[in-house]
Amino acid sequence: MVSIFNTYEELSDFAARQIVSTVQQNPTAVLCLAAGDTPHLTYQKVVALANENNINFLDVIFIGLDEWIGIEPATEGSCYHFLNEIIFTPLSINKEHIFFFNGMATDLVKECKQIDAIINAIGTINLVLVGIGINGHIGFNEPGTDPQSNAHVVTLDAVTTKIGQKYFKEEKSLTQGISLGIAQIMASDKVLLIANGIKKADIIRKTMKENISNAVPASFLRNHPNGIILLDKEAASEL
Ligand code: GLP
Repeated sequence: MVSIFNTYEELSDFAARQIVSTVQQNPTAVLCLAAGDTPHLTYQKVVALANENNINFLDVIFIGLDEWIGIEPATEGSCYHFLNEIIFTPLSINKEHIFFFNGMATDLVKECKQIDAIINAIGTINLVLVGIGINGHIGFNEPGTDPQSNAHVVTLDAVTTKIGQKYFKEEKSLTQGISLGIAQIMASDKVLLIANGIKKADIIRKTMKENISNAVPASFLRNHPNGIILLDKEAASEL
């Protein structure tokens, strides 16, 4: 399903309300939220809505979607740092409820297995929110990804490593990422994909109009029974 909003603000408001109502209905909900520029306003609105309506996130569980390998969690620009600043700290999330990839782990395979085991133990992720890379990636599931994959280490696309510099104050060596797999995203109860701006229009057209395949990993979401693609007018302008 696709929903098109007049503005980024309206899109963000809708996405925020989806997250908050998930927690309102289920205070022990399991959420998996992307980092990135796109959901920035969504998360600010989640915090504001939670505070205004006294919605308690203390028992919510957070699963990390992805992380840059070789970047410390405390470094500004890491996915963990972003989410910690914008949502975990403002909502006073219990650190024991946050299961996030450590991009500095010496044993990355073990890191993947740990997250897989946590998801298996929990059962189901109730809500996943992803952005989309201009190459069609979701999380760090790059073009060519195996749709059956669980958590895995990824060699990043050249376009991802180039654009990824925008999150960091100083230039970083970004060659690999660690990510939940398409199978885990697809097994979640609900998936929201959010995209805004003209720079996402071309990949949104490919996501929605071309064949569903790993050439554009986001296209798999069209097969999700509860997958919603939320777009502003610019991102939807080539549909
Ligand atoms: C990044 C992340 C994704 C994110 C996407 C879009 O590289 N790995 O999780 O959703 O690219 O980012 P942005 O919202 O900044 O355009």
